[in-house]
Amino acid sequence: MRVISAIEELRGRLQHEPAVVFVPTMGNLHEGHLALARLARDHGSCVVASIFVNPLQFGPSEDFGRYPRTLEQDCAKLDGLADVVFAPTVEDLYPEPQQVFVEPPPVADDLCGASRPGHFRGVATVVLKLFNIVQPRAAVFGKKDYQQLQVIRAMARQLNLSLEIVAGETLRAADGLALSSRNGFLSAAERAEAVALYRNLGQIREAILAGRRDLSVLEQAAAADLAGRGWRVDYVAVRAAASLAPAREGERNLVVLAAAWLGRTRLIDNVEVCISADKGL
Ligand code: PAF
Repeated sequence: MRVISAIEELRGRLQHEPAVVFVPTMGNLHEGHLALARLARDHGSCVVASIFVNPLQFGPSEDFGRYPRTLEQDCAKLDGLADVVFAPTVEDLYPEPQQVFVEPPPVADDLCGASRPGHFRGVATVVLKLFNIVQPRAAVFGKKDYQQLQVIRAMARQLNLSLEIVAGETLRAADGLALSSRNGFLSAAERAEAVALYRNLGQIREAILAGRRDLSVLEQAAAADLAGRGWRVDYVAVRAAASLAPAREGERNLVVLAAAWLGRTRLIDNVEVCISADKGL
């Protein structure tokens, strides 16, 4: 496995690779990322993982500064899973102030985008830059960041990018908490509480599968439960899975998404819900 930070060196290394698969990350890798790297191997012969904490996707009051940077440990974890680690510096990727941006679709202003203005513009812009540098035939994104996955899918579709977007399942701890680099910020008490987010999503899922269709009542009940337990809730929302538009009558593929703060840490999670053909919303 080779670790490369310079764009030209990476291009040279990948020049004759016929089937590059790309796993973009911000580092501080956990088993969820490693599962994406393993999945990547099924889609090509050369797995490239990037590690880059992208300033463009953090708001001025967000955790860019305190986002964990653990390159050495990350490379050790990727050894044997990736062929190349691309770990550029901010100067490598942004040698001049970035003035050209990808304008993401309106869905990017909703859900996480509502409380993180500009976040998905920063994500889409860096991902397109990385795609142009790595030129993969496929790229792997985790479903944990469901809205991000749909924004990237829309970008790939609408900008006619010549690559496949592959989605990896969310990995969970034994109690159900979705693995996330931000879990490391939680105190022991917060960590024990954190699973309440997933539990609430699961309860909405079960209620829908059991025939409940009063989605806003379900959303509000979950938000109230979390608030009562000391969370600050950004949103709990049931949406159409592919578009993330509000779920309409007849919709069968749904996703229940939530974002909420536990102390100083913002956690997100989601669960998909597939309603059988005879029981659509
Ligand atoms: O999901 C992430 O870690 C980041 O948003 C990504 C896709 C690597 C872009 O910086």
